[in-house]
Amino acid sequence: SIDKKDLEKQIAAREAVKFIQQNDIVGLGTGSTAFFAIQEIAALVKNGLKIKGVPTSEHTASLALSLGIELLPMDQVKSIDITIDGADEFDTQLNLVKGGGGALFREKIVASLTKNEIIIADSGKLVTQLGKFKVPIEVVPIALTYVLQQLGKLNGKGEVRMKDNAPFITDNHNIIVDADFGLISDPAALSASLNRIEGILAHGLFVQLTSKVIMGKGTETIIYAG
Ligand code: A5P
Repeated sequence: SIDKKDLEKQIAAREAVKFIQQNDIVGLGTGSTAFFAIQEIAALVKNGLKIKGVPTSEHTASLALSLGIELLPMDQVKSIDITIDGADEFDTQLNLVKGGGGALFREKIVASLTKNEIIIADSGKLVTQLGKFKVPIEVVPIALTYVLQQLGKLNGKGEVRMKDNAPFITDNHNIIVDADFGLISDPAALSASLNRIEGILAHGLFVQLTSKVIMGKGTETIIYAG
């Protein structure tokens, strides 16, 4: 039996895949919510849907391949028709925090190439203000000291993400700093400030990249659109 959160993720995923059309290039998200979408897409492919997937992580690439979804690397696509991905937090303005799984850089490139970015979420992901979930930031390791200093100037407290007593290493061979800025009153301004710090490859604030959030709530879905 599937738990309540997983059910919400699954019904959001089922709703989201309805927007995929024949011959689309489809961005494939990363995480436990995107997992449900990838499963739904695989089922549609088995039933004759023709699409090519663009994975947002090595993990998603192997999952998709194991389910029979044909893939294209993101450096070979000029545009992606639709992407279905998850988020760690979202607000009703469609700002997101992403990167809990560490895949934020590739997720952001894919989102930036995408015409229709659909975020799927369980009801626990909706917040009135972003920032309770620390902002994941992918940092080139040699720049760590400098980046932590600059985050401090933005009133951010950064900590290197660990896994098995060692720094967590991303698919791009970098580290993740999880940064606490408190509640974020102006996500666009903070995003712009983070973009100016050398040594940050990408950060998990996604501003103006999302066309819709489909949230599962109980046995229904609620759609937030721009
Ligand atoms: C991966 O890096 C993330 O951006 C995920 O989309 C995010 O962490 C949500 O993950 P879950 O769907 O597992 O909550």
